[in-house]
Amino acid sequence: MSVGLSLPRIDARAKVTGSAAYPGDLAMPGMAHAKVLFARRPHARVIAIDTREAANLPGVLGIFTGADVPNNEYGLVLFDAPVMVGVAGGKVFDGVVRHVGEKMALIVAETERIAERARELIRIEYEDLPVIDSIEAALAPGAPQLHPHYPGNVIHPYKIRHGDAAAGFAQAEVIIEGEYRTGAQEHAYLQPEAGLAYIDEQGRITVQVAGQWAHEDQEQIAHALRLPLERVRVIYPAIGGAFGGREDMSVQIVLALAVQRLGRPVKIIWTREESIIGHHKRHPAWARAKLGALRDGTLVAAQIQLYTDAGPYNYTSNKVLGNATVTCVGPYVIPNVTIDSAAVVTNNVPSGAFRGFGSPQALFIAETQMNKLADALGMDPVALRRKNALRDGSITVNGSVIPDGCSMVEVINACAAAADWGAAQEALPVKGYIKRGRGFAAGHKNIGFSFGAPERCEATIELHGATQIERAVVFHAGADCGQGAHTAFLQIAAEALGIPTDKIELRLSDTSTSGSSGSASASRLTFMAAGSIVGAAAAVLKKWQEEERPARADFVYRPRATTAMDPETGESDPNITYGYVAEVADVEVDTETGQVRVLNLVCADDVGRAVNPQQVVGQIEGGVAQGLGWATLEHFVSKGGRPLTTRFSTYLIPSVYDVPDNVDSVLVEISDPHGALGIRGMAEMPLLPVAPAVVAAIHAATGLWMDELPVTAERLRAKLK
Ligand code: MOS
Repeated sequence: MSVGLSLPRIDARAKVTGSAAYPGDLAMPGMAHAKVLFARRPHARVIAIDTREAANLPGVLGIFTGADVPNNEYGLVLFDAPVMVGVAGGKVFDGVVRHVGEKMALIVAETERIAERARELIRIEYEDLPVIDSIEAALAPGAPQLHPHYPGNVIHPYKIRHGDAAAGFAQAEVIIEGEYRTGAQEHAYLQPEAGLAYIDEQGRITVQVAGQWAHEDQEQIAHALRLPLERVRVIYPAIGGAFGGREDMSVQIVLALAVQRLGRPVKIIWTREESIIGHHKRHPAWARAKLGALRDGTLVAAQIQLYTDAGPYNYTSNKVLGNATVTCVGPYVIPNVTIDSAAVVTNNVPSGAFRGFGSPQALFIAETQMNKLADALGMDPVALRRKNALRDGSITVNGSVIPDGCSMVEVINACAAAADWGAAQEALPVKGYIKRGRGFAAGHKNIGFSFGAPERCEATIELHGATQIERAVVFHAGADCGQGAHTAFLQIAAEALGIPTDKIELRLSDTSTSGSSGSASASRLTFMAAGSIVGAAAAVLKKWQEEERPARADFVYRPRATTAMDPETGESDPNITYGYVAEVADVEVDTETGQVRVLNLVCADDVGRAVNPQQVVGQIEGGVAQGLGWATLEHFVSKGGRPLTTRFSTYLIPSVYDVPDNVDSVLVEISDPHGALGIRGMAEMPLLPVAPAVVAAIHAATGLWMDELPVTAERLRAKLK
């Protein structure tokens, strides 16, 4: 038995000793160095690009612009962004810079210094265009259309019409109305974007880079360079954090282009500032919400208008918004719901995937509405949730039955019990201006791609030996972004093959040796990889019994299919299954400075089955810290489309002094009937309820509802005065 043990991480030693190679550590003899010239203006027409002077600088090997990209477009969901922005009238969309992080040129030189100096010699003539820097400005009548594909500056509207909201509100005895705003969030992973590209021994353009889905990177490179897939190879070394921030392309395509053109290995590493302007952020959101209930707490109606700021390109905005739309009324049964949502095009830094993928924003709205309702009813917030929570057989806002294995009630109960909710809070001796309070929030989020997107995950296993299995080799493309996925793969393989882990070799994250795993995202990888590894193990053991030596089997796992939302009603069976989480936060508010300190946080998370409990606890503690940063500290400031917080000295993330003194991780293990070995995805869940739980605790301490995130000390102090 290997599943359920807290085995040490297989990469732990290499990481703590520094021997693990991240993309920024890679080197090859004869390698050249690249730099990207970013537009650094939010909206402009490109009149001319002159690279002659730069190209003449000694040591410069090549300068590439949009005109050099054979098929100058990319996008994870929709091809709507140029790899590099070329001149107007070129083949590149329409020669328009739409955000500060647009790539204008790639400079390759003998040294990084020469590439930097050459970058300064590139002359670009721009004609600045009016900048749209907010949802309100983008939707204002007469606002210019920023992208040819998106009339009205709207990427993807969704509608939910479930029951009859007007009739529901007519029946309601208490109605809560609120307006909410949440801010952008920077992923702040340790390893900035970096990579090394070269031609491998089989003549393939090979890119070693940090990403979340090697085969998708391979496809995007092949698409932009018009190459057959098999001519491109992507390998992930140690990744150094991702959190959704590596779902979209950064250095992959331009590195591949440089190698294709120069034939020499090329290395790039972005500075932190380049990373911050060069990759997407969590979507800022704005919502107006109305919730109706009977006196006894029964929810009868909800109405929500929700907009997210997508920046100028889709990235994953339509998918993020789909998730937000489905979860913005929370994990509750509400018979009458109207939701209208849209992702809005602006000239801000693009928004995209970030741990939770739309659900943190959605649940901040839903759970704060619930806490306000509990307050208005004079009802215990846990009892209110228990009364209305989704359970097996419940009908969701999509008009379909919640996937079976719904454990929301059990998770709420587990959290309340672990936190001793309901027990009188001791009046701790605190100074008069320090107030304490406690808050509760719950949440749910889909596991896996949704809304009918095809899902698959592939594994290959080889068994070597004569009579006994002496050695097994597991081939898998799944990305270990730092979450411990590869250790989980090892444990699942050992369990499924019935052999000890030390007999197993892993061949990982290389498109030339594995089929596609799908991405390390959507809390899906352990769930999907388990399906693929368990399937491959059964297939290869059968061949082993049939005396095949070495035995080898591939298996493609396909979970149950989902369906897209009806455009008029939202009706669908959108998700394979969900993760469920609940949290209690105890905070201390300094009413003089507005500073909030989280003393204690209890997180109960149904993980189905903990493959490696220590790693699950690590995910909970990390998710809580990241959620706390988004809720209270991380303030991504932009003015006129220009980010002002492009360093960690101005964009503050939680440090050891800011994380709670105590995080109590409660692992609930209710088998997920959809998951192999009962596994349920969990990596995003711990982040989801942090903001609403902390905001409820601030309310308990001060009597103030903070409806805009982040609740910085400055904002809270202004409201306290
Ligand atoms: Mo994730 S936010 O689904 O990479």
